[in-house]
Amino acid sequence: MNAKDIVYVNGSFVPRAEARVSVEDRGFVFGDGVYEVLRVINGRPFATRFHNDRLRRSLEGIRISLKGSDNPERFVEIGKELLRQNALVDGEATLYMQVTRGASTRAHNFPAAETEPTVYISAARFTPYKDLAESGAVAITLPDQRWGRCDLKTLNLLPNVLASQIAKEKGAFEAMLIRDGIVTEGTRTNFFGVIDGVLRTHPLNNHILPGITRSVLRDLAHQVSIDLDESPIKVDEIPRLSELFLTGTTTDVMPVVTLDGKTVGKGRPGSLTRQLQKVLAESLASGSD
Ligand code: PDD
Repeated sequence: MNAKDIVYVNGSFVPRAEARVSVEDRGFVFGDGVYEVLRVINGRPFATRFHNDRLRRSLEGIRISLKGSDNPERFVEIGKELLRQNALVDGEATLYMQVTRGASTRAHNFPAAETEPTVYISAARFTPYKDLAESGAVAITLPDQRWGRCDLKTLNLLPNVLASQIAKEKGAFEAMLIRDGIVTEGTRTNFFGVIDGVLRTHPLNNHILPGITRSVLRDLAHQVSIDLDESPIKVDEIPRLSELFLTGTTTDVMPVVTLDGKTVGKGRPGSLTRQLQKVLAESLASGSD
């Protein structure tokens, strides 16, 4: 918690302890909502256009319409105000934005059209995983038990939560999820692997979240002439991985050096991973929005 700890809820900036939403909020009762997590460096939110597009797409995907002057661009401005009010304009921070279908007497179908969505935005101090990014992390594989619209960033994160907890209990940083013999993504990250010298990542479809870091890295790889093959990695190809890394807003490029107890490649972050860590760090530092 930071000194001031002001959050935004439904039109008001309030101390976190005084922030209120209804117990009938559909986010609380059904997980009926969507969210975004943005990275902020020295007061500047990173890749906002990508996040705004994805938030719009998630809202449309679950049929929530924002009311009045609310829109993703406005949420970013509110986020910047929160950074100022919470003295987070220097150094690293994150913004969290959540929109639910609002509060209404419990019924599975949608509430009346005039029901106002609940908008919650908060800012927090962030510390990147510097040491782990240097040494490389441990990961495990687990079955992907999620639904068929993983491309929408919804609040329904129970399978992710359970898999993440199993990973933690096994001393792993992340669980990589397997669906139909294919590695889809992590519980909170996308992943890239190198096989026969070729950088690969899962293609965009309904089985993975279109990660912003994944998109940024795809462009950066292109700029530094690294080819990217967007074809899925099969479980039986795992032993052939010479490099493996995870990507995410709060993960950056995280090398994985041990997977399911076996060493990946040479057991230390590989050269493509290092190169992409460097270009992503430069892009974050340049504060491109
Ligand atoms: N998670 N895949 C899943 C399932 C995710 O939840 C996330 C992000 C990613 C990476 O996406 P991005 O590069 O846009 O962060 C991939 C956020 C950070 C979270 O839930 O906290």
